[in-house]
Amino acid sequence: MKQNNKNFFLWGAATSSYQVEGGIKNDWTRAGFDSGRAADHYSRFKEDFDLAKELGHNAHRFSIEWSRIEPEEGKFDKKEIEHYRKVVTALQERGLEPFVTLWHFTNPVWFAESGGFESPKAVFYFERYINFVTENLKDVKFWITINEPMVYTKNSYWLGIWPPGRPLSPLSYFRAIKNLIQAHKKASVVIKKVNPRAQVGIAKNIIYFEEDKHPWHYLQKLGEYWWNEYFLNKIFDHQDFVGLNYYFHKHIRRETHPVSDLGWGIYPEGLYQVLGVLKKYNKPIYVTENGIADAKDEKRAQFIKDHIDWMKKAMAEGVDVRGYFYWSLLDNFEWEKGFGPRFGLIEVDYKTMRRKIRGSAYLYKYFIKHS
Ligand code: BGC
Repeated sequence: MKQNNKNFFLWGAATSSYQVEGGIKNDWTRAGFDSGRAADHYSRFKEDFDLAKELGHNAHRFSIEWSRIEPEEGKFDKKEIEHYRKVVTALQERGLEPFVTLWHFTNPVWFAESGGFESPKAVFYFERYINFVTENLKDVKFWITINEPMVYTKNSYWLGIWPPGRPLSPLSYFRAIKNLIQAHKKASVVIKKVNPRAQVGIAKNIIYFEEDKHPWHYLQKLGEYWWNEYFLNKIFDHQDFVGLNYYFHKHIRRETHPVSDLGWGIYPEGLYQVLGVLKKYNKPIYVTENGIADAKDEKRAQFIKDHIDWMKKAMAEGVDVRGYFYWSLLDNFEWEKGFGPRFGLIEVDYKTMRRKIRGSAYLYKYFIKHS
């Protein structure tokens, strides 16, 4: 699919460091959520990118692990940034456009101990880290500063199921959101200074809330605004594109749609609906994540096809979508749920680390080719 003369549509898949690399020690590891060897992507990235290329992708989203880059406060590890330089080069050599996430839920232990994103110092630390990374990866064009700030703060400071594990802490919750907004703004300025051509955004989880006529209708609208739009509105002037992570819809009735292995309702039309909502920002949109846990690979191909079809419908109606990244390229460590859920286009045998391409990955290849 050609977007216009200059921009080709980006097709690919996404991963994040802690979920696939292996050998990382960060605040999650300390909290007992150890991803161990994960999918050993740290040493197998070239082989994995060969597969992505073979599957017809022309872009790839991955994240940089802050705890590798700055294992101690203010001490930056040259070897580790060199590793990510090799990752970027490996993608470029295979014709895959790198889409680089700078923060995907994980923190160095020293940062967590200093108060994490609850602390106002977080903004300074984050900016300094971003500066180091971007200075060393000057030729990367697409940057995602922060992945899903609302999901992170909810799980960490409301539910308390993610590090730092602080349930029902409204003050911490609001402080962390405020600091994440500031952190993004500062980071975007740094990135633009280093590379004026860079395109900067965040990956924002957006839920499609189906209209339900009930007495709390207005309360729902408020919740919808808070979850979907508040953060994006706050950073409006500091983003070149909107990154959209779309997984599911919500309504108060019982789920009647088919579900994934995690019980998440499959509702592709929701992607069309939320793209319609994001149109008002008048910026290019990249679907930075969309995927399904489906160990048997029975529903994935249809899932991808239907979401792409609804995305195309939105595009035909004038929504400026420029890329789609399936979550995920590989099976990976699904945070507090561990290794059970299987999101990968590529199956990983965690004992042998052998990769096996799932059938749906070939269908995705077909959809890409014929788009
Ligand atoms: C996150 C991923 C996660 C995926 C599936 C997204 O919210 O960015 O890290 O694996 O959802 O749960």
